[in-house]
Amino acid sequence: MTTTTGRDTIPFFPPDLFHDDRETLLRLLYEIGTAPEQKFILGAHTARFEEALREQLGATDVVACSSGTSALHLVLAGLGIGPGDEVVVPAFGCAPLAAAVLHLGAVPVFADIDPRTLTLGPADAERRLTARTRAVMPAHMFSVMADMPAFAALAAAHGLRLVEDSAVAQGAVLAGRPAGMWGDAGVYSFVQVKSFGMPGEGGAVVTRNPELARRARMLRNHGQDGRRRFVHHEIGLNSRFDEIQAAFQLHRLPGLPARLERRARIAAHYTERLTGLPGITPPPADPDGRCHYVYTLLAEDRDALRDHLARHGVATHVYYPKALPDQAAFAPVAAAHQPGAAWPHARRAADLQLSLPVHHRLDDAQVEHIAETVRGHALRHRPTPPSPPVRPERSA
Ligand SMILES: Cc1ncc(COP(=O)(O)O)c(C=O)c1O
Repeated sequence: MTTTTGRDTIPFFPPDLFHDDRETLLRLLYEIGTAPEQKFILGAHTARFEEALREQLGATDVVACSSGTSALHLVLAGLGIGPGDEVVVPAFGCAPLAAAVLHLGAVPVFADIDPRTLTLGPADAERRLTARTRAVMPAHMFSVMADMPAFAALAAAHGLRLVEDSAVAQGAVLAGRPAGMWGDAGVYSFVQVKSFGMPGEGGAVVTRNPELARRARMLRNHGQDGRRRFVHHEIGLNSRFDEIQAAFQLHRLPGLPARLERRARIAAHYTERLTGLPGITPPPADPDGRCHYVYTLLAEDRDALRDHLARHGVATHVYYPKALPDQAAFAPVAAAHQPGAAWPHARRAADLQLSLPVHHRLDDAQVEHIAETVRGHALRHRPTPPSPPVRPERSA
């Protein structure tokens, strides 16, 4: 697409994401599609993929499943969360954070976020605990991991389960510990646009808890234990993993660090160019616990900046235009269980956040064009500084 400035649009997510691996994808499709065993789900490729992730993370187990959303469901169900329970979740973030809790008959209790990291605030989360709280579920957001040391301490102090929504943070490490490995379990999402996305839907539960892994494995396949079919120990669901995708992800796994490194370099360049601009707050620059799924800044005139970027050929995303308790889907539960509650930082984030492309297929010229376009807008709209007061001339 060409813009008013005559430039081609820089897409938010690249259409050629799998360009380098297309031949492999076609080969795997043919090989698995024509193999004598005709095994398309939960076979040897899935087992190898799970094992590769498990080894990389130092996890006890990894359970590949049909999506990140489904992985959250498997974890919460595996922990026995259900009616009468409360789970503290961030008031700003993706819908599955609240929906996964509600689907199990439990209540999501919304806590406000930290205004800088946009992730769940540990102090506000603690304030929302009640006698019914069973778990706390922070989520890593955009490019920043939540304050997991604080949440691990909070969960230990109050005897709570800690579920880490690390769907966007595969490959991030905080204080030497990988995203996903901080609590009872973490989850990953492999949907196309994620940092380790694939051409389809998929996710994983990662855990150090063998009993939770055993239950998640059963639940992902209708409560069967993998030894005997059509014998159901629990009420499960269909959250199985695809063999062609497993083989493809195994092929792509060794290239993940280089792709993440390219994203990190682009993000560092943005932060360098965008720090100190009037009306713009880049994400915190600390490199620990970063994942660079997308690069999200806060802009005082977000919609005008977004229009300006679009006119200059830069596609952007506004991820969550409303705080979760303000969404029609979740407002009733928030009103019923948290009457009069306020989430000022979540609402401010919903109004101001804007995400820039940060994917590994951007070239240096595109990265600089994006940074320069944000700078141009911010500097043109810089509030004029008040003129210095004119000193009255002193008479001699
Ligand atoms: C933080 C977070 N959690 C969970 C999910 C759900 O993952 P999936 O789309 O694979 O269901 C997403 C997806 O966007 C996400 O961003």
